[in-house]
Amino acid sequence: MANPRSLTYPAAAVFALLMMAISITNVDAAAVTFSVSSLGAKADGTTDSTKAFLSAWSNACASVNPAVIYVPAGRFLLGNAVFSGPCKNNAITFRIAGTLVAPSDYQVIGNDGNWLLFQHVNGVTISGGVLDGQGTGLWDCKSSGKSCPSGATTLGLSNSNNIVVSGLVSLNSQMFHIVVNGCQNVQMQGVKVNAAGNSPNTDGIHVQMSSGVTILNSKISTGDDCVSVGPGTTNLWIENVACGPGHGISIGSLGKDQQEAGVQNVTVKTATFTGTENGVRIKSWGRPSTGFARSILFQHIVMTNVQNPIVIDQNYCPNDKGCPGQASGVKVSDVTYEDIHGTSATEVAVKFDCSSMYPCNGIKLQDVKLTYNNQAAEASCIHAGGTTAGTVQPTSCF
Ligand SMILES: *[C@@H]1O[C@H](CO)[C@@H](O)[C@H](O)[C@H]1NC(C)=O
Repeated sequence: MANPRSLTYPAAAVFALLMMAISITNVDAAAVTFSVSSLGAKADGTTDSTKAFLSAWSNACASVNPAVIYVPAGRFLLGNAVFSGPCKNNAITFRIAGTLVAPSDYQVIGNDGNWLLFQHVNGVTISGGVLDGQGTGLWDCKSSGKSCPSGATTLGLSNSNNIVVSGLVSLNSQMFHIVVNGCQNVQMQGVKVNAAGNSPNTDGIHVQMSSGVTILNSKISTGDDCVSVGPGTTNLWIENVACGPGHGISIGSLGKDQQEAGVQNVTVKTATFTGTENGVRIKSWGRPSTGFARSILFQHIVMTNVQNPIVIDQNYCPNDKGCPGQASGVKVSDVTYEDIHGTSATEVAVKFDCSSMYPCNGIKLQDVKLTYNNQAAEASCIHAGGTTAGTVQPTSCF
């Protein structure tokens, strides 16, 4: 215990310190905090805490002042939980110190679409936390060939604006880890995604029908695309992302539908791909569509042992159903590959297989160097046109 006589600070200094402390807490000054624990959540990993989380959300959402939902350390079991707006304030922070755990029985949420869903919200920050989707049971079911639920996305962000996801860890989702759909201005940073390299359909971050999404400083290891970009995505920025294992960063599949919004202005900058199936890919169905992909920049990328480092595949037609003999309607143009180097795990490191009806145009290769077995790799072009600058290896096939 402190000896009172040792407290020799002059009153003025004590006062100054106090004021500092007050102004620091003032960052959340007007914010009210709702702790899920005081609303009945149990950090034991086995008691269903869904109701406590939903009541914290209703309180936060009904608050006219900024609100914090606090999740302490420990494991909280949650079933399907939908956090809906609109809310009375536009500054709700989920501050998560602990882990949210999905039911281990995949049947419980396997047909719900999403495990955790935020919809129609404006101004929500999710800070920290581990989301444990417990997907391994469902993956086993799928690989056994039995009939299984399709699985839930771990975190869905839907029809929402001004969202921040920071320092979140997503483990073993049943299906996609994070899906951004119909949103504007979403910043994700320091996100970690982890699932087995052979886990089915466990895309890391999927973005569609959204504008102004930023993914920074993130590490994604999973069984499907690290990032997949669907129709209607514009102004997407991906920077400093490490991918692997996984299927790479993929624009597509596009052109599944006849009437489809295009993808425009996507930047993938400073990324590494390690042992992945693809590096940077654009993929479309081989059938008619109004879709397009344009103004795309892939820059400062290191490939290590990647099967298809640079690929455009416009003849996607799973099981040869609904498209054989048809050309993709998706128009691919103005795609730049700049400063891309490393190793390919196959001979063909650059492959442009474009639509016969709408050949790819405005493809630019600049300072690309990819090798296969310490030798020059190969490039293959079908219906693709563009230009090169600087050193380009394999030699371009335009
Ligand atoms: C492209 O998107 C970025 C954000 O990713 C944005 O800053 C930039 O203004 C957009 N460019 C155009 C021409 O819209």
